[in-house]
Amino acid sequence: MPDQAGTQLRAWVDYFRDLGIHDFYRRGEPAALGAEPAEEAVNEAANEAAVALDRASTIPVLSASIASGADVPAAAQRAQPLPAAPASPLANPAPSLVTLISFNQRAPLPAAPVPAAERAAALAAIQEEIGDCTRCPLAYAGRHKIVFGDGSPTARLMFVGEGPGADEDAQGLPFVGKAGQLLNNMIAAMGLARSEVYIANIVKCRPPGNRVPEPVEANTCSQFLLRQIDVVRPEVIVALGSTAAIYLLGVRRSLSSLRGAWHTCRGAKLAVTYHPAFLLRDPRQKAEAWKDLQMVMAELKLTPPARK
Ligand code: URA
Repeated sequence: MPDQAGTQLRAWVDYFRDLGIHDFYRRGEPAALGAEPAEEAVNEAANEAAVALDRASTIPVLSASIASGADVPAAAQRAQPLPAAPASPLANPAPSLVTLISFNQRAPLPAAPVPAAERAAALAAIQEEIGDCTRCPLAYAGRHKIVFGDGSPTARLMFVGEGPGADEDAQGLPFVGKAGQLLNNMIAAMGLARSEVYIANIVKCRPPGNRVPEPVEANTCSQFLLRQIDVVRPEVIVALGSTAAIYLLGVRRSLSSLRGAWHTCRGAKLAVTYHPAFLLRDPRQKAEAWKDLQMVMAELKLTPPARK
């Protein structure tokens, strides 16, 4: 049933997207970042469109169709006609959640870091704000637990993956499945304990069937990851795989072209390496990943543990 509902919701999202409405589930929320006037205006217009849509009872029809398992075209026929979208300050109010914006461009860095002693509470406040999130379609796609993040609030090193898998969805913790075991080994090989680093993902809810998160899902969720990074203020971020690299850096480039060089993200140096799940599928690339991690170790002046 959740799979069917998820499929139906996706169909509805596509339906609204075809209408040029990408932001309808963020209605009524204040702009989280507050520092991007252009983006705010864009979201504002989209939010207004969403409120108008809501008034036209389309969203309740959507919920009812999901609850009842009715097929989308039939539900679409029952939906009342859409009102005209409000005038937008920009030619196309839609692209805010589908275009790539690097984490650096999304908001200025906070003027002062959160004091180390207050970081755990600051992270808890972000988690509380996320609540039982329904800001994007992943909330309706069979999610069990929201995977916020894990590790030290004062970590010097942060790993960012793509999104939770089945094990993470069940436990509410990132990287606890097979890929997580490999990540644990990678961390240990760097001379660190898992509890010393911070681990999070681009999206906090499991995409159905472990598919790659949609831009609208990743961009909606990014505001919270951005704030987690700003609270933890790691010296180095490691993007695990291309989804993390693409959204953190705001570039759609191949992993191989991004590896082996330093990038920047929210005041941290950022390195790109292979996703542990990819390394499980192609262990020959582990040597390459180790080169990436050695670059990180040199930056953080870490020494690998002595061999026993
Ligand atoms: N893969 C990810 O990208 N993140 C997880 O948390 C688990 C698997």
